[in-house]
Amino acid sequence: MSARILSGKEIAKKIREELKDEIADLKSQGITPGLATILVGEDPASQVYVGAKTKTCHDLGIFSDQHTLPADTSEGKLLSLIDELNNNPKIDGILTQLPLPKQINETKVLDAISPEKDVDGFHPINVGRFFTVKDFEEMVEKKLFLPCTPHGMIEIIKRSDIQMNGKEAVVLGRSNIVGKPIAMLLLANNATVTICHSRTKDLASVCKRADILIAAIGKPKFVTADMVKEGACVIDVGVNRTEQGLVGDVDFEKVVDIAGSITPVPGGVGPMTITMLMVNVVKSAKKRI
Ligand code: GUN
Repeated sequence: MSARILSGKEIAKKIREELKDEIADLKSQGITPGLATILVGEDPASQVYVGAKTKTCHDLGIFSDQHTLPADTSEGKLLSLIDELNNNPKIDGILTQLPLPKQINETKVLDAISPEKDVDGFHPINVGRFFTVKDFEEMVEKKLFLPCTPHGMIEIIKRSDIQMNGKEAVVLGRSNIVGKPIAMLLLANNATVTICHSRTKDLASVCKRADILIAAIGKPKFVTADMVKEGACVIDVGVNRTEQGLVGDVDFEKVVDIAGSITPVPGGVGPMTITMLMVNVVKSAKKRI
Protein backbone atom coordinates (compact mmCIF):
# COMPACT_ATOMS: atom_id res chain seq x y z
CA MET A 1 0.00 0.00 0.00
CA SER A 2 1.20 3.49 -0.73
CA ALA A 3 1.86 5.88 2.17
CA ARG A 4 -0.10 9.04 2.86
CA ILE A 5 1.89 11.98 1.45
CA LEU A 6 2.35 14.72 4.04
CA SER A 7 2.36 17.94 2.06
CA GLY A 8 4.38 20.56 3.93
CA LYS A 9 3.52 22.89 1.08
CA GLU A 10 -0.21 22.72 1.89
CA ILE A 11 0.31 22.98 5.65
CA ALA A 12 2.65 25.95 5.17
CA LYS A 13 -0.01 27.66 3.03
CA LYS A 14 -2.58 27.19 5.81
CA ILE A 15 -0.24 28.59 8.50
CA ARG A 16 0.57 31.59 6.29
CA GLU A 17 -3.15 32.34 5.97
CA GLU A 18 -3.43 32.22 9.77
CA LEU A 19 -0.42 34.54 10.03
CA LYS A 20 -1.99 37.10 7.67
CA ASP A 21 -4.86 37.55 10.15
CA GLU A 22 -2.44 37.97 13.06
CA ILE A 23 -0.36 40.50 11.09
CA ALA A 24 -3.50 42.49 10.16
CA ASP A 25 -4.41 42.56 13.84
CA LEU A 26 -0.93 43.83 14.78
CA LYS A 27 -1.06 46.49 12.05
CA SER A 28 -4.40 47.72 13.39
CA GLN A 29 -2.50 48.39 16.62
CA GLY A 30 0.23 50.31 14.78
CA ILE A 31 2.76 47.45 14.76
CA THR A 32 4.37 46.18 11.55
CA PRO A 33 6.47 43.08 12.27
CA GLY A 34 10.03 43.48 10.93
CA LEU A 35 12.70 40.94 9.96
CA ALA A 36 16.34 41.80 9.22
CA THR A 37 18.29 39.24 7.21
CA ILE A 38 22.06 39.31 6.79
CA LEU A 39 23.81 37.50 3.97
CA VAL A 40 27.61 37.56 3.87
CA GLY A 41 29.18 36.46 0.57
CA GLU A 42 27.74 34.91 -2.55
CA ASP A 43 26.97 31.29 -1.72
CA PRO A 44 24.28 30.44 -4.32
CA ALA A 45 22.15 28.28 -1.98
CA SER A 46 22.25 30.96 0.73
CA GLN A 47 21.26 33.60 -1.84
CA VAL A 48 18.22 31.50 -2.77
CA TYR A 49 17.23 30.95 0.90
CA VAL A 50 17.57 34.63 1.87
CA GLY A 51 15.74 35.73 -1.30
CA ALA A 52 12.87 33.38 -0.42
CA LYS A 53 12.72 34.78 3.13
CA THR A 54 12.52 38.34 1.80
CA LYS A 55 9.81 37.38 -0.70
CA THR A 56 7.74 35.66 2.01
CA CYS A 57 7.98 38.80 4.16
CA HIS A 58 6.61 40.85 1.25
CA ASP A 59 3.81 38.35 0.60
CA LEU A 60 2.71 38.46 4.25
CA GLY A 61 3.14 42.21 4.83
CA ILE A 62 6.16 41.85 7.14
CA PHE A 63 8.77 44.64 6.90
CA SER A 64 11.94 43.14 5.40
CA ASP A 65 15.37 44.70 5.86
CA GLN A 66 17.87 42.68 3.80
CA HIS A 67 21.61 43.31 4.27
CA THR A 68 23.93 41.82 1.68
CA LEU A 69 27.61 42.12 2.61
CA PRO A 70 30.74 41.18 0.61
CA ALA A 71 32.49 37.84 1.33
CA ASP A 72 35.53 39.63 2.86
CA THR A 73 33.45 41.48 5.48
CA SER A 74 35.27 41.59 8.82
CA GLU A 75 33.82 40.07 11.96
CA GLY A 76 33.84 43.52 13.61
CA LYS A 77 31.78 45.03 10.80
CA LEU A 78 29.19 42.26 11.02
CA LEU A 79 29.02 42.57 14.82
CA SER A 80 28.44 46.31 14.59
CA LEU A 81 25.59 45.78 12.10
CA ILE A 82 24.02 43.28 14.51
CA ASP A 83 24.39 45.79 17.35
CA GLU A 84 22.60 48.42 15.25
CA LEU A 85 19.76 45.99 14.43
CA ASN A 86 19.50 44.90 18.09
CA ASN A 87 18.72 48.54 18.90
CA ASN A 88 16.39 49.23 15.96
CA PRO A 89 12.78 49.28 17.26
CA LYS A 90 11.37 48.46 13.78
CA ILE A 91 13.18 45.10 13.81
CA ASP A 92 11.61 42.17 15.69
CA GLY A 93 13.84 39.44 14.32
CA ILE A 94 17.44 39.14 13.07
CA LEU A 95 18.66 36.25 10.96
CA THR A 96 22.27 35.80 9.87
CA GLN A 97 22.35 33.20 7.13
CA LEU A 98 24.74 30.33 7.83
CA PRO A 99 27.36 29.25 6.89
CA LEU A 100 29.52 32.36 7.32
CA PRO A 101 32.88 32.96 5.60
CA LYS A 102 35.98 31.56 7.37
CA GLN A 103 37.25 34.85 8.85
CA ILE A 104 34.05 35.19 10.92
CA ASN A 105 33.49 33.26 14.14
CA GLU A 106 29.95 31.85 13.85
CA THR A 107 29.49 31.35 17.60
CA LYS A 108 30.45 34.96 18.32
CA VAL A 109 27.92 36.17 15.77
CA LEU A 110 25.05 34.00 17.02
CA ASP A 111 25.83 35.08 20.60
CA ALA A 112 25.71 38.76 19.57
CA ILE A 113 22.10 38.65 18.34
CA SER A 114 19.77 39.78 21.12
CA PRO A 115 17.94 36.71 22.53
CA GLU A 116 14.73 38.80 22.20
CA LYS A 117 15.27 39.05 18.41
CA ASP A 118 16.77 35.60 17.84
CA VAL A 119 14.08 34.23 15.51
CA ASP A 120 16.33 31.31 14.52
CA GLY A 121 16.36 30.14 18.15
CA PHE A 122 20.16 29.68 17.99
CA HIS A 123 21.26 31.95 20.87
CA PRO A 124 22.57 29.91 23.86
CA ILE A 125 19.99 31.53 26.15
CA ASN A 126 17.16 30.39 23.87
CA VAL A 127 18.73 26.96 23.40
CA GLY A 128 18.96 26.70 27.20
CA ARG A 129 15.32 27.72 27.66
CA PHE A 130 14.27 25.22 25.00
CA PHE A 131 16.16 22.35 26.67
CA THR A 132 14.89 23.05 30.18
CA VAL A 133 11.12 23.28 29.79
CA LYS A 134 8.94 20.39 30.92
CA ASP A 135 6.98 19.74 27.73
CA PHE A 136 5.71 21.22 24.47
CA GLU A 137 2.81 23.03 26.19
CA GLU A 138 5.33 24.93 28.30
CA MET A 139 7.30 25.85 25.15
CA VAL A 140 4.12 27.38 23.71
CA GLU A 141 3.07 29.01 26.97
CA LYS A 142 6.50 30.62 27.41
CA LYS A 143 6.42 31.83 23.78
CA LEU A 144 9.88 30.39 23.08
CA PHE A 145 11.54 30.92 19.71
CA LEU A 146 11.54 27.33 18.47
CA PRO A 147 14.15 26.49 15.80
CA CYS A 148 12.40 26.80 12.44
CA THR A 149 13.07 23.52 10.60
CA PRO A 150 12.39 21.22 13.59
CA HIS A 151 9.32 23.26 14.55
CA GLY A 152 8.06 22.89 10.97
CA MET A 153 8.49 19.12 11.19
CA ILE A 154 6.51 18.96 14.44
CA GLU A 155 3.72 21.05 12.87
CA ILE A 156 3.53 18.61 9.95
CA ILE A 157 3.22 15.70 12.41
CA LYS A 158 0.65 17.45 14.64
CA ARG A 159 -1.51 18.85 11.84
CA SER A 160 -1.57 15.41 10.17
CA ASP A 161 -2.91 13.88 13.43
CA ILE A 162 0.07 11.58 13.85
CA GLN A 163 0.51 10.61 17.50
CA MET A 164 3.86 11.12 19.23
CA ASN A 165 2.82 10.24 22.79
CA GLY A 166 4.62 7.03 23.83
CA LYS A 167 5.80 6.35 20.27
CA GLU A 168 9.31 5.30 19.34
CA ALA A 169 11.06 8.07 17.41
CA VAL A 170 14.46 7.70 15.76
CA VAL A 171 16.42 10.72 14.54
CA LEU A 172 19.15 10.19 11.97
CA GLY A 173 21.64 13.03 12.38
CA ARG A 174 22.89 15.12 15.30
CA SER A 175 23.34 18.65 13.91
CA ASN A 176 22.64 21.71 16.07
CA ILE A 177 20.17 23.06 13.47
CA VAL A 178 18.07 19.91 13.00
CA GLY A 179 19.06 16.62 14.69
CA LYS A 180 19.46 17.76 18.31
CA PRO A 181 16.50 20.18 18.41
CA ILE A 182 14.03 17.82 16.67
CA ALA A 183 15.00 15.13 19.21
CA MET A 184 14.17 17.60 22.00
CA LEU A 185 10.82 18.54 20.40
CA LEU A 186 9.84 14.89 19.99
CA LEU A 187 10.77 14.30 23.62
CA ALA A 188 8.70 17.33 24.67
CA ASN A 189 5.79 15.63 22.89
CA ASN A 190 6.36 12.43 24.92
CA ALA A 191 8.00 10.27 22.26
CA THR A 192 10.79 7.87 23.24
CA VAL A 193 13.72 9.24 21.28
CA THR A 194 16.94 7.72 19.91
CA ILE A 195 19.52 9.85 18.09
CA CYS A 196 21.67 8.01 15.55
CA HIS A 197 24.86 9.19 13.86
CA SER A 198 27.84 7.95 11.84
CA ARG A 199 29.15 5.78 14.72
CA THR A 200 25.81 4.11 15.53
CA LYS A 201 26.06 0.33 15.37
CA ASP A 202 23.48 -1.61 13.38
CA LEU A 203 21.80 1.53 12.15
CA ALA A 204 19.24 -0.28 9.99
CA SER A 205 17.77 -2.23 12.90
CA VAL A 206 17.58 0.90 15.10
CA CYS A 207 15.75 2.76 12.31
CA LYS A 208 13.41 -0.18 11.83
CA ARG A 209 12.15 0.22 15.42
CA ALA A 210 10.86 3.72 14.65
CA ASP A 211 7.18 4.67 14.59
CA ILE A 212 8.48 8.11 13.58
CA LEU A 213 11.69 8.23 11.56
CA ILE A 214 13.47 11.54 10.97
CA ALA A 215 16.09 11.56 8.21
CA ALA A 216 18.47 14.50 8.59
CA ILE A 217 21.90 13.33 7.51
CA GLY A 218 22.39 15.01 4.14
CA LYS A 219 23.03 11.82 2.14
CA PRO A 220 20.84 11.27 -0.93
CA LYS A 221 18.45 8.28 -0.67
CA PHE A 222 20.31 6.96 2.42
CA VAL A 223 17.18 5.54 4.08
CA THR A 224 16.17 2.44 2.15
CA ALA A 225 12.98 0.36 2.40
CA ASP A 226 14.63 -2.32 4.60
CA MET A 227 15.29 0.35 7.29
CA VAL A 228 11.64 1.34 7.67
CA LYS A 229 8.97 -0.26 9.83
CA GLU A 230 5.66 -0.92 8.13
CA GLY A 231 3.25 1.96 8.73
CA ALA A 232 5.93 4.34 10.11
CA CYS A 233 5.80 8.11 9.69
CA VAL A 234 8.89 9.17 7.73
CA ILE A 235 9.99 12.80 7.78
CA ASP A 236 12.70 13.65 5.24
CA VAL A 237 14.77 16.79 5.88
CA GLY A 238 17.30 16.09 3.12
CA VAL A 239 17.92 18.70 0.44
CA ASN A 240 20.54 17.07 -1.78
CA ARG A 241 21.27 18.56 -5.18
CA THR A 242 22.16 15.64 -7.46
CA GLU A 243 22.30 15.04 -11.21
CA GLN A 244 18.71 13.74 -10.94
CA GLY A 245 17.66 17.04 -9.34
CA LEU A 246 16.64 17.71 -5.73
CA VAL A 247 16.66 14.46 -3.72
CA GLY A 248 15.88 13.78 -0.06
CA ASP A 249 17.69 11.54 2.44
CA VAL A 250 15.03 8.87 1.87
CA ASP A 251 14.68 6.53 -1.11
CA PHE A 252 11.14 7.84 -1.61
CA GLU A 253 10.03 5.59 -4.49
CA LYS A 254 10.68 2.40 -2.44
CA VAL A 255 9.91 3.66 1.07
CA VAL A 256 6.52 5.03 0.00
CA ASP A 257 5.28 1.41 -0.25
CA ILE A 258 6.32 0.56 3.33
CA ALA A 259 5.67 3.74 5.33
CA GLY A 260 2.26 4.83 6.62
CA SER A 261 3.00 8.48 5.87
CA ILE A 262 5.93 10.32 4.32
CA THR A 263 7.05 13.85 3.43
CA PRO A 264 8.10 14.38 -0.20
CA VAL A 265 11.18 16.30 -1.39
CA PRO A 266 10.51 18.95 -2.57
CA GLY A 267 7.22 20.06 -1.02
CA GLY A 268 7.66 18.50 2.42
CA VAL A 269 9.74 20.02 5.20
CA GLY A 270 11.30 22.73 2.99
CA PRO A 271 8.29 25.09 2.73
CA MET A 272 7.73 24.81 6.48
CA THR A 273 11.11 26.29 7.51
CA ILE A 274 10.48 29.81 6.21
CA THR A 275 6.89 29.70 7.43
CA MET A 276 7.98 28.91 10.99
CA LEU A 277 10.53 31.74 10.76
CA MET A 278 7.62 34.09 10.00
CA VAL A 279 5.73 32.59 12.96
CA ASN A 280 8.69 33.57 15.18
CA VAL A 281 8.84 37.10 13.74
CA VAL A 282 5.13 37.62 14.46
CA LYS A 283 5.56 36.09 17.93
CA SER A 284 8.38 38.58 18.59
CA ALA A 285 6.37 41.54 17.27
CA LYS A 286 3.49 40.68 19.63
CA LYS A 287 5.89 41.20 22.56
CA ARG A 288 5.99 44.93 21.60
CA ILE A 289 2.41 45.30 22.87
N1 GUN B 1 21.47 27.86 7.03
C1 GUN B 1 20.85 26.67 6.84
N2 GUN B 1 19.75 26.58 7.62
C2 GUN B 1 19.69 27.74 8.33
C3 GUN B 1 18.78 28.24 9.30
O1 GUN B 1 17.81 27.60 9.71
N3 GUN B 1 19.07 29.49 9.79
C4 GUN B 1 20.15 30.21 9.39
N4 GUN B 1 20.35 31.41 9.94
N5 GUN B 1 21.02 29.76 8.48
C5 GUN B 1 20.78 28.53 7.95
